[in-house]
Amino acid sequence: MKWALGLIALPLSAAYVGSQACKPCHPSEFDRQTRSHHAQALRPVAESPLREFAMDKIEWAFGAGAQGITPVGRLNGQYFEGQLSYYSRLHGLATTFGHPEHPTSPIAKLGILQDNRTITHCFSCHATNVLPTADGPDLTAMQPGVQCERCHGPGSAHVAAPARGQLLNPGRLAPAAQAQVCGECHRVAGPDTGDEPELENPVNVRFAPIGLMASRCFRESKKLACTTCHNPHENARPRTDDSYNRVCKSCHSAGKSHAHVSSAGDCLGCHMKQASLGPYLRFTDHRIRVYSLGP
Ligand code: HEC
Ligand code: HEC
Ligand code: HEC
Ligand code: HEC
Ligand code: HEC
Ligand code: HEC
Ligand code: HEC
Repeated sequence: MKWALGLIALPLSAAYVGSQACKPCHPSEFDRQTRSHHAQALRPVAESPLREFAMDKIEWAFGAGAQGITPVGRLNGQYFEGQLSYYSRLHGLATTFGHPEHPTSPIAKLGILQDNRTITHCFSCHATNVLPTADGPDLTAMQPGVQCERCHGPGSAHVAAPARGQLLNPGRLAPAAQAQVCGECHRVAGPDTGDEPELENPVNVRFAPIGLMASRCFRESKKLACTTCHNPHENARPRTDDSYNRVCKSCHSAGKSHAHVSSAGDCLGCHMKQASLGPYLRFTDHRIRVYSLGP
């Protein structure tokens, strides 16, 4: 029997042990990762900044608050996604992205009911060790948030007798295979997002792998990976951080490309712009390119 992490299948020979079990031997990864937005992508609402919303029906806070937090609860056993979300740029509540602005029915005022399949996906992308069932997500063994074993696979065999090769290490995958691991949650081009990467589609700009994998830097270098720019155990460094320009210049030297590369400071302002999804959500266009001039 096999379990699959994206396209990569590993033998099912281990059980989940929780991030705490990794701490003694990997204290540096542990300290950074447990403070990251990944680790906080799902929390019980009472342990989140939305704690004043804690009430019978609201159970979970989705999103670490990098951009937003959406409450999720249950009504007569069925999960719903809250009508209002907290947005960090607003420092307050506004209609959840994609929800109607003026709901009429009492249920719609609470939020949008989600079928079992959809809500199982929500938990699977925002948490670790979620078991899908026909009745919805089984959360009894869940660790909220994207924790160590969500990316590396269940760790019991490794913890008992650590060696290399027992866990998935995406750092040892080729860039395209690594992008698939991240793309299980961050999305890759496919039926849900459109067969062709429709990069001018403002909704797809939030899906970093789709943009990156369509850029010439990725396709023609075969060396550019998510981890070239991001430490997977930390939040993204702000776009003003010079490390990004250094990455660009490691492949584009002034001699090889052209004069502006040596004089330009900020490569991202002209080649990796930000795009907004609605008033409060902003994403980085990962299709590195020369933007066409004019309309
Ligand atoms: C008892 C100590 C110990 C514990 C506990 C432990 N590890 Fe390790 N881990 C190691 C050692 C030692 C290595 C390096 C093995 C080598 O390089 O020969 C390693 C390597 C790794 C690697 C790289 C593997 C590879 O094949 O490249 C990953 C990923 C990893 N550990 C993740 C974890 C996670 C996740 C946990 C918790 C579920 C964990 N480790 C718990 C000792 C430990
Ligand atoms: C299990 C799903 C999942 C996987 C796998 C995953 N991510 Fe994420 N990632 C998320 C979620 C959910 C968030 C949003 C966290 C929040 O609420 O702010 C996120 C946020 C991020 C951020 C933004 C962090 C910040 O600064 O706020 C980066 C960068 C990122 N992920 C990179 C990666 C990379 C690189 C990989 C692959 C090595 C990866 N992710 C794999 C679910 C995932
Ligand atoms: C395929 C994986 C996936 C599914 C399914 C998913 N999310 Fe996410 N979610 C992410 C990733 C990755 C991010 C970070 C990047 C982004 O914001 O798109 C994120 C970000 C968020 C955020 C932060 C604010 C924002 O909009 O960026 C909230 C809130 C959120 N998700 C709630 C939900 C809820 C509620 C559901 C189910 C109705 C859900 N997510 C389903 C992967 C997923
Ligand atoms: C979002 C996915 C993700 C999560 C969550 C995650 N890791 Fe990793 N981890 C990676 C990736 C990607 C690499 C490869 C990094 C590289 O080679 O640049 C990696 C590499 C490692 C390595 C090998 C480092 C080396 O020197 O080769 C260890 C050990 C490790 N992770 C431990 C952990 C522990 C412990 C946790 C939880 C506290 C954790 N990881 C959570 C994605 C993740
Ligand atoms: C791993 C190597 C690598 C890295 C890192 C890299 N690129 Fe590239 N990039 C390439 C290759 C290869 C091409 C295609 C051939 C060429 O123009 O050299 C390319 C093409 C481009 C193009 C032309 C795109 C088009 O559609 O015609 C631009 C603009 C660009 N890169 C900017 C950047 C910027 C800005 C960064 C940093 C954010 C960056 N690159 C990082 C390898 C890389
Ligand atoms: C060439 C460098 C580069 C590469 C490669 C790269 N990113 Fe990013 N990424 C950035 C920059 C720059 C930001 C903006 C950071 C900020 O301002 O907070 C960012 C931000 C993000 C964010 C936060 C939301 C957003 O859009 O601003 C996520 C999620 C993310 N990256 C995921 C990924 C994933 C997954 C991969 C691999 C498919 C990847 N990135 C590869 C440079 C890169
Ligand atoms: C002020 C805007 C601006 C900045 C800043 C900028 N570029 Fe460009 N870049 C352009 C424009 C416009 C083009 C297309 C016209 C041209 O080739 O000169 C371009 C083209 C490119 C190309 C494609 C060259 C080719 O021959 O196909 C690469 C590679 C590139 N830039 C890399 C970079 C890097 C790396 C940085 C940061 C060190 C950077 N650029 C900063 C505007 C900018």
